[in-house]
Amino acid sequence: MDKIVIHGGQRLRGEIRILGAKNAALPIQCAALLTAGTTTLRHVPRLSDVKTMSELLAGLGCVVTGDRTLVIDAAGVGAGPLEAPYELVKTMRASVTVMGPLLARYGRCRVSLPGGCAIGARPIDQHLRGLEALGAKIKLAHGYVELKAKRLRGASFTFDVITVGGTQNVMMAAALAKGTTRLENVAREPEVQELALVLNKMGAKIHGAGTSAMEIEGVDVLHGIDHAILPDRIEAGTFMVAAAICGGDVLLEHAPVDHLHAVIAKLEEAGARCIVEPRGLRVQGPEALRPIDIVTRAHPGFPTDMQAQMMVLATCAHGQSILTETIFENRFMHVPELVRLGADIHVNGNVAIIKGPAKYSGTTVMATDLRASASLVLAGLVAEGKTEIRRVYHLDRGYETIEKRLRQVGAKIRRFHGAPN
Ligand code: EPU
Repeated sequence: MDKIVIHGGQRLRGEIRILGAKNAALPIQCAALLTAGTTTLRHVPRLSDVKTMSELLAGLGCVVTGDRTLVIDAAGVGAGPLEAPYELVKTMRASVTVMGPLLARYGRCRVSLPGGCAIGARPIDQHLRGLEALGAKIKLAHGYVELKAKRLRGASFTFDVITVGGTQNVMMAAALAKGTTRLENVAREPEVQELALVLNKMGAKIHGAGTSAMEIEGVDVLHGIDHAILPDRIEAGTFMVAAAICGGDVLLEHAPVDHLHAVIAKLEEAGARCIVEPRGLRVQGPEALRPIDIVTRAHPGFPTDMQAQMMVLATCAHGQSILTETIFENRFMHVPELVRLGADIHVNGNVAIIKGPAKYSGTTVMATDLRASASLVLAGLVAEGKTEIRRVYHLDRGYETIEKRLRQVGAKIRRFHGAPN
């Protein structure tokens, strides 16, 4: 088990290159199942979630090679079982995104139900209702969902809840359905737009991605592609907060500025300077941060995946901030650990009231989920003395070598192998 040790209090200066987006790469890996051709993905981040997805694809019969450039050959799929087993789905819920492609191309699949996770119940009812609308027959048994359909048929479907994964699953299924599908109340996240772009490159006919309704004219076959994954807006946002709270001056090379408007607006409200430069986004931290109020919303609202990191920024501000989480019901797992480091945070339901500035002092803390872990790293950067973060495998799901990249801009941060659990 690895641990990360930080000696806080350094000003951050320099450049960090933003890598490919995890949440764009994962569904695009699944999209490779829609074609008998070869899918070549470039700028793929080296993350444990990407590896888990490659393992799942290999189990389904794909030949997967490379990592930064990932090549997926799906010609062999269909000879063996079309199943996403519990062992993989329980480590990564995004595994359920193979459902739409498998059903559309092979007419059947069996996927373990994901169950709850650290940040909330996270049901997949909307994925299933959408696929059912396209003609899937669904059976739940022994903790698995079994889906069957001779050929999916285009239909109109309105999501009750805005769901990123649900939208991606149903749009991939509709891409190979017979006839036209109209989807309403869809997710507008950049990662949904990126998937639509990739599917259209493969030969799909998807219109309206990025708006709240999509129209998908089904086609008979999709072909292989070569595609570079877009830069990660949440990774960029996390480093933006690091620069802002450390009085830093950091250029985030390739930061996807167009996908970061809500985050930039809040950082500027807090007093940080965000300057768009030809090579990326420069963030300069102020002497004193101002408090901010944030409500998480589906895109283009403020992303839930930045809530934990912004909470650290709020703890560093002079005054009271209020953060309201509306997407997941249990996404304040970082709060008790931030409080142990010295933050003043009170949670009431889905609202956190934060009084700053915190006098953080380093201690040993435990990572609980991906973004919660990122918030502990951020707090460690401003804490007095030594902060030790355990269970960093959560971080490795979504941030590639975060310690090396923060060290590059002046942070005193190191990873040690073989820490206690
Ligand atoms: N929901 C339902 N029914 C469904 C699907 C979702 O009620 O059938 C609810 C969820 O319980 C949740 C809300 O809808 O309350 C939104 O969930 P969504 O389906 O949009 O989330 P997701 O697709 O499972 C992706 C990201 C998450 C990110 C959310 C929200 C990937 C692989 N994961 O999850 O990323 O928080 O969208 O933007 O794309 C992360 O990277 O740390 C992460 C958790």
